[in-house]
Amino acid sequence: MRILGIETSCDETSVAVVEDGTHVLCNVIASSKEAFEQHAGVIPEEAARMQVECMIPVLAQALKQSKSTPESIDAIAVTKGPGLLGSLLVGGVTARALASLWKKPLIGVHHTLGHLSSPWLDQEEKLQFPVLCLSASGGHTDLWCRLSHTKGILIGRTRDDAAGEAFDKGASILGLPYPGGPSIAKAAEGGDAQAFDFPLPLKEESHLDFSFSGLKTSLKYTFRDLRTHDATTIRNLAASYQHAICNHLIDRLKKALHQYPGTKEIHVVGGVSANTHLRSLLGTFPVPVRFPVKLSYCTDNAAMIASAGYFMHQELKNEAFQSFETEASLSLNFTKA
Ligand code: KG4
Ligand code: ZN
Repeated sequence: MRILGIETSCDETSVAVVEDGTHVLCNVIASSKEAFEQHAGVIPEEAARMQVECMIPVLAQALKQSKSTPESIDAIAVTKGPGLLGSLLVGGVTARALASLWKKPLIGVHHTLGHLSSPWLDQEEKLQFPVLCLSASGGHTDLWCRLSHTKGILIGRTRDDAAGEAFDKGASILGLPYPGGPSIAKAAEGGDAQAFDFPLPLKEESHLDFSFSGLKTSLKYTFRDLRTHDATTIRNLAASYQHAICNHLIDRLKKALHQYPGTKEIHVVGGVSANTHLRSLLGTFPVPVRFPVKLSYCTDNAAMIASAGYFMHQELKNEAFQSFETEASLSLNFTKA
């Protein structure tokens, strides 16, 4: 089954064609991130304007690269939310127009479900449920116990900022460009991750929620009170802050694995899963730990939306072809703990 996916929830305009949920025929991504480098984050109105301009060229390129014709596409999957409203509308309107013109079913996909599907993209191994999945991006940080592609329990979530947001706000404090994850990772290269002491959030709590706002405040005051802002000090501060964020994510994952001993695999997805320091710290778990096989599948992309759409169709049949929901009424079909 060949699905054309569309993702426009933040500042990317992405169109992909994916066969049977795993085989990526193309995954075209246009990003307006460079336009926001000097700002602390995305300007929603600007992002949506750029998406209006990019959408048709990106779609044309995706059809060409995947050698697809409208006849060869079986369904269209699109991110229905959450995300920036104007940006979501660009993808939603495009998807609806194509579905109506080409007479194809339309599948509205929750953005997080897209991230949760990303380890299946171009994956050669057979993955096994139950999966403990950490999804950490700029908009959310969740822990899921996944029983199948469409069934699972939300067992932990952030109580304030998302992990990617902690990187983005941290970068802004340190005067580094947006997006903060890659720029803090770069600034931290060769730095001493133990040079500055950051608290481990929610250390004594047995629940599986996250909290990053204390780390951000701690960075703010540490930076303000530094006696010198030379390159070595900033490198060490970036390395220590990055380590503190990653350490908190891993601490919660360890607790979750202890509470869900039937787990067969751990998946780490979302923009923050591209972080190499996080990956290096994740080496020591008793079950296989997997990431999306390409870095471009970690951050926002349409291939993951097409993949999730396929698995929704496999498990929910015609229920997957629901009418396109608005953000206010969307649901993930998952149980919340
Ligand atoms: O999943 P994503 O592309 O978009 C959302 O759904 O939010 O994630 C973007 C987030 C940003 O906050 C960005 O700073 C972070 O992921 N990110 C990273 C890295 N690459 C992107 N964080 C840490 N290390 C990275 N290498
Ligand atoms: Zn995302």
